Amino acid sequence: MARRTEAEKDVQPKGRGQEKVRVLISRGRVQRRVTEMARQIRKDFPGEQLHLVGVLKGAVFFLTDLGKQIPGDVSFDFIAVSSYGAGTHSSGQVRLTRDLDSSIEGKTVIIVEDILDTGMTLQYLLRVFEQRKPKRLRVAVLLDKPERRIAAVRADYVGFTIPNEFVVGYGLDYAEKYRNRADVGVLSLGE
Ligand code: IMP
Ligand code: MG
Repeated sequence: MARRTEAEKDVQPKGRGQEKVRVLISRGRVQRRVTEMARQIRKDFPGEQLHLVGVLKGAVFFLTDLGKQIPGDVSFDFIAVSSYGAGTHSSGQVRLTRDLDSSIEGKTVIIVEDILDTGMTLQYLLRVFEQRKPKRLRVAVLLDKPERRIAAVRADYVGFTIPNEFVVGYGLDYAEKYRNRADVGVLSLGE
């Protein structure tokens, strides 16, 4: 058996049960919905250049799949934020850890995020982006957990509204694991 890394030991301590992932949204459903979202976005902005900004790292698969399905002129950039705190709870304090490569002034910008949870991350990003004078600013999220919302923000495009459970896969992680799953599943840590 392969040796586990320090990070894995942390989330899978001996004698405290096993992590399990139960599929919530299959790979096929994810793909079909992303295709629909791409069509809708292009329909809303016909002929316009769209600048997709992915929030690293969770939004990477969503952004690449979505971007491939939007016909016409599309450019990409990435931003990274971290919210203080680890594990399945964040403290709500957000900080920028990687800024954009290029200016968004005058552009039609779509922030692409993996999941809208408390809304603190998005609230922070919207504030930062609005100061930079984009022509238009929209938000696309794959998942929305409205039950956990603290900040008064909403997304313009939502893939799936899900219950208040911790999910992994399709970019979403737990301690950096599970991002590479093609589906979205509910993580249980066991007892
Ligand atoms: P918010 O600031 O609380 O809305 O949280 C947004 C960020 O928290 C997301 O971009 C994710 O990185 C992370 N997050 C929130 N809920 C989950 C989850 O269920 N699984 C994995 N990451 C999550
Ligand atoms: Mg994220």
